[in-house]
Amino acid sequence: MVKYIMLVLLIPLSSLFCLDCSTYAARREAVREHLGPSSVMIIFTSPVVIRNGDVEYEWRPDSDYWYLTRHPEPKSCLILTSNHSDIICNQFTQELLFTRPRNPHIEVWTGKRLGIKGVKSTLNLNYVTTTDSLKYYLDEILPQVDTLFLNRRIPKDECNIPDFLIDMIANGTFEVLFAGEIILPLRHIKSQNEITLLKKAVTITGHGLEQAIRRVKPGLTENQIEATIEFIFREEGSKRTGFPSIIGSGPNSTILHYTKNDRLMHKGDMLLMDVGAEYQMYTADITRTIPVSGKFTEEQEELYLYVLEAQKLAFDSVRVGMTLMDLHKIAKRYLDNVGFGQYFIHFIGHWLGLDAHDAGSYKSEIQVGTVFTIEPGIYISYNDTTADEKYRGIGIRIEDDILMTEDGPILLSKNILKDVKDIEALMRRRPKRRM
Ligand code: GLY
Ligand code: MN
Repeated sequence: MVKYIMLVLLIPLSSLFCLDCSTYAARREAVREHLGPSSVMIIFTSPVVIRNGDVEYEWRPDSDYWYLTRHPEPKSCLILTSNHSDIICNQFTQELLFTRPRNPHIEVWTGKRLGIKGVKSTLNLNYVTTTDSLKYYLDEILPQVDTLFLNRRIPKDECNIPDFLIDMIANGTFEVLFAGEIILPLRHIKSQNEITLLKKAVTITGHGLEQAIRRVKPGLTENQIEATIEFIFREEGSKRTGFPSIIGSGPNSTILHYTKNDRLMHKGDMLLMDVGAEYQMYTADITRTIPVSGKFTEEQEELYLYVLEAQKLAFDSVRVGMTLMDLHKIAKRYLDNVGFGQYFIHFIGHWLGLDAHDAGSYKSEIQVGTVFTIEPGIYISYNDTTADEKYRGIGIRIEDDILMTEDGPILLSKNILKDVKDIEALMRRRPKRRM
């Protein structure tokens, strides 16, 4: 009987777990299918960066590395060769992951490491060794290689590629190509599981924004609103933001990537909140712009409605096969026609996924399974003499997240209010307790 109960308990857990592992294995297989017989791909995870003293900045795995491994530890890398590889090196075939060794002394301070055994059993990778043997393997492998794919552009990117590999590349006879050429098209189309995570990220982001909209009033600082939003994110299971929250009031609303968030807000300001909860590594990216007083002025409302209409026109045009550039032109043409096109100073949007600005170029096509933002804006700096004085100091962006499906585009963030009357009504519903 006990055995039977154990079995019933174990079946759903193990099948879930296997599904997970097989997703990552299938992604590696898909990458290997694109490699030639004498090609090798090395994917490094993100470097650890010292903040001050012996404190580090928060570490997050590199998105490509995560996409292929789900391995959550720094100082690691993955080597892949073709499914039809000619390369011979010990018993290594096709997949080799390097991880930090177990270390009981360090683990007392920073927590348990998976080690070789842990990676093998939890991530279902067969050939795993420690990072300190990377040079030994590369000495064997690289002389057999005609093309090396790397997820860092040398020397352009700040990267954690070891010096010995930089030397090997300088002296090697092989060509070095960007691994993104193979991985990014795969990441461009999201699976059902990825879409589920993105939807959750959007829902959490919406809850954070709703609380913030209800709390905003003159006399609070941008930081306090940032705290309200990120409190909800953590409460609802988001480990971190997908990018630093942009909470810009008054003149700061016209600064596209403003992140200081330390100004005191005043009646008459607009407040632009561009935020995204990251949920299990997938991020939302949503912007709402509201009047700090709770009521749009005539000028604020006029510009807000232009941005809203530009976004609606772009969204209503979305079709499979279009590019983000096509959407950009639609929004820009409208804003030009109403006389404010010159103040729309960035691109209409970007792909969304593991990264806020996710894999895929602006020339990539919208396809079933792609997720992207549409985020037109008008930004009139407080000292911009090309604009009528009454518009100066107003920055407005409205950003939503869109999923393309077989049945057309879906506005994932449709529940996050953005009509003028809805925002004003929500701002009248003050939160019951201080958040
Ligand atoms: N959320 C910031 C950006 O899209 O650039
Ligand atoms: Mn964005």
